[in-house]
Amino acid sequence: MICLDNFFTGTKRNIEHLIGHPRFELLRHDVTFPLYVEVDEIYNLACPASPIHYQHDPVQTTKTSVHGAINMLGLAKRLRCRILQASTSEVYGDPAVHPQTEDYWGNVNPIGPRSCYDEGKRCAETLFFDYLRQHRLEIKVARIFNTYGPRMHPNDGRVVSNFVVQALQGEPITIYGDGNQTRSFCYVDDLVDGLMRLMGTAADFTGPVNLGNPGEFTIRRLAEMVIDMTGSKSKLVAKPLPADDPRQRQPNIALAKRALGWEPRIPLEDGLKLTTAYFDGLLRGTSVEATT
Ligand SMILES: NC(=O)c1ccc[n+]([C@@H]2O[C@H](COP(=O)([O-])OP(=O)(O)OC[C@H]3O[C@@H](n4cnc5c(N)ncnc54)[C@H](O)[C@@H]3O)[C@@H](O)[C@H]2O)c1
Repeated sequence: MICLDNFFTGTKRNIEHLIGHPRFELLRHDVTFPLYVEVDEIYNLACPASPIHYQHDPVQTTKTSVHGAINMLGLAKRLRCRILQASTSEVYGDPAVHPQTEDYWGNVNPIGPRSCYDEGKRCAETLFFDYLRQHRLEIKVARIFNTYGPRMHPNDGRVVSNFVVQALQGEPITIYGDGNQTRSFCYVDDLVDGLMRLMGTAADFTGPVNLGNPGEFTIRRLAEMVIDMTGSKSKLVAKPLPADDPRQRQPNIALAKRALGWEPRIPLEDGLKLTTAYFDGLLRGTSVEATT
């Protein structure tokens, strides 16, 4: 396996247990530049994924999605190998249809502060389907909904890591808006299982296919669960809702169930326990291996 990363948001610490394994190779490389390697399959996951990181350098974010897709699709075309794109529920924008099925075209602002990510990922999907039509590539497109778990960046502003870190440090838990907006949360091991099943589907199955956990929780409920789980004395504080923040987010995973035989197995409570244990170890300076 070749793991490629420019470490913009990732860290070597996350893969240090794999370094030295005879079948693991690490390559520091930026996907916005062409790459020449020999592989049988490509999982294209490279992209800053949290608003703090993708808005830090929005032009680079769009480049990572668009140039990155072109470079990886070019590599797949040369090798005639399968390629999977980590797309996102953000392609649905602030959805007018709920829950979202794959045939919904989305409600996306093309010129807002989130557009570098949303439109970058939409353009990447377009490129994948054009490579399929024009070059008969074997493509797989996963639309990933909120996924969380150990090894997330502790300060990237994503809601689960934010809440867990704030609760463990006894700091106020910041809720944007009234906290009644909903999200669904998928544990990382479930998602990885879904991505590998998608890669293994028949050549004519391309997706896009939603991968996520349909259990829907308000942000306020999530905060309360984290406080209960950590025994924290943190209080909830409200801050203004950022621009273009979706009110509701819930995947319809009927297609994933049908085509991949997949559905999430790990309930939010169990996943939060593993995530909390990880961040607890990180904040105390002792590392925790989390497995389900
Ligand atoms: N976690 C989620 O909730 C979620 C939801 C939807 C989609 N996704 C997508 O899944 C993928 C992985 O997300 P994640 O949550 O693991 O985020 P992450 O930040 O942990 O992982 C992204 C990785 O991409 C690397 N990267 C960024 N720009 C790069 C570049 N130009 N060249 C090479 N590497 C680069 C980062 O260093 C990092 O290791 C992303 O494409 C993201 O858009 C994630």
